[in-house]
Amino acid sequence: MAGKMKSVYICSECGYETQKWYGCCPGCGQWNTFTEEVRQTQSATKASAPSRVSTRAARPERLREITTVGEHRYLTGLGELDRVLGGGLVKGSLVLISGDPGIGKSTILLQICQKLGDTLEILYVSGEESAHQIKLRADRLGVDTERLSVLCETDVQTITETMRADNPGLVIIDSIQTMAIEELTSSPGSITQVRESTNVLMRAAKSLNIPLFLVGHVNKDGNIAGPKVLEHIVDAVLYFEGERNYSYRILRAVKNRYGSTNELGVFEMTDKGLQEVENPSMMLIAGRPKNTSGTCVACLMEGSRPLLAEVQGLVTQTGFGNPRRMTTGFDYNRLSMLLAVLEKRAGYFFGNMDAYVNVVGGLRLDEPASDLSVALALVSSLKDVPVRDDVLAFGEIGLAGEIRSVNACAQRVREAARLGFSRCVIPKHNLKNITTELRDQIEVIGVRTIREAFESVCI
Ligand code: TYD
Ligand code: MG
Repeated sequence: MAGKMKSVYICSECGYETQKWYGCCPGCGQWNTFTEEVRQTQSATKASAPSRVSTRAARPERLREITTVGEHRYLTGLGELDRVLGGGLVKGSLVLISGDPGIGKSTILLQICQKLGDTLEILYVSGEESAHQIKLRADRLGVDTERLSVLCETDVQTITETMRADNPGLVIIDSIQTMAIEELTSSPGSITQVRESTNVLMRAAKSLNIPLFLVGHVNKDGNIAGPKVLEHIVDAVLYFEGERNYSYRILRAVKNRYGSTNELGVFEMTDKGLQEVENPSMMLIAGRPKNTSGTCVACLMEGSRPLLAEVQGLVTQTGFGNPRRMTTGFDYNRLSMLLAVLEKRAGYFFGNMDAYVNVVGGLRLDEPASDLSVALALVSSLKDVPVRDDVLAFGEIGLAGEIRSVNACAQRVREAARLGFSRCVIPKHNLKNITTELRDQIEVIGVRTIREAFESVCI
């Protein structure tokens, strides 16, 4: 019953299907997202079948009568991962872990098998590595649990059959882009395959109430390869990030049906796999130059967690006509605005100066609260006057040159006190948030203007 071959175009963002190629997707308005796929007409109808929801009639239930006591969370043995998941892995949940190649997705999933293997039977399905390779890695990571089985398979049908037969307590799929449904003619990794494989696996996992980890690749833009629908299907989407030049990795939830998306986990890649970093601020500000102009410590909030980072500014005489401005880890336009405010409102002239801003450790300062530390680093470099190295400063700078209040002020000050800073320069309006108990631990100075701030941070 070989069907007729026909080609269809599918949007990689929203999964919109058409017979002809479009530059701009009518479904989601994105440009250049259509990819061609070859499909057999008869199997196409078959292929769309798995995505249909079961026809079993559902009855409305009273919200009050729905019980939630059944929600059980498994601890993974990595506290940072548990935190990002919202307090552990929920039974029956579908979690997608994504990130650049070589960032450590396979490593973290193999590592958690050790602790989870105490209570659960685990099925690790790999479409990328051989059993031998996985064994070598497990040896390196010290994973040696009895209850871990490895299946090197890419056929979704076989995987779901194994799931039904063995009924494991946890399934890991590494990676969803290598999985394929035989009936579909398109190749593994294509949008249809990724979408349908996820659907089939999800249905199998939900019906058996098995938690499922999926590894997803990212495309060249850093998004999860495959249609956006993938992110809609799963319960949680975690991104693994890291800078090539640093050994630490940051795990972030961008979607989580069972917890907050503000949480963040920090790991360090060592020769024995990923180690949790319990004190990331300490790591990020370690090795700061002492008594040097042009550096200041900033505090950013990552969810409910304050993180300290070092901001460096360098201001030098312009060699050519136009002054150069460059930023790493800070918004370029925000820098232009800060320089304009510093010039017009505080009397620090940068007109014929090149200005560079760098956030050490590969972090990004997106919060307006980091304005003050960036400004102080720049002014310190301009004046060649070092900022005291036991000082932390934060605050938003307004266009009138005023220092505006920020959120989570007490948490930031507490983190500074915990790490042994002796002075904290904060917006004057935020002083009311600081308790006397906190004041006993650290000197807190409220400032209204940039000049006031600079005077209180200098030696
Ligand atoms: P991996 O988990 O294979 O990445 P992904 O699955 O995200 O593509 O990570 C592999 C990288 O991690 C590789 O570059 C080597 C490094 N690594 C270590 O540094 N230490 C270790 O113990 C392990 C297992 C890997
Ligand atoms: Mg891998």
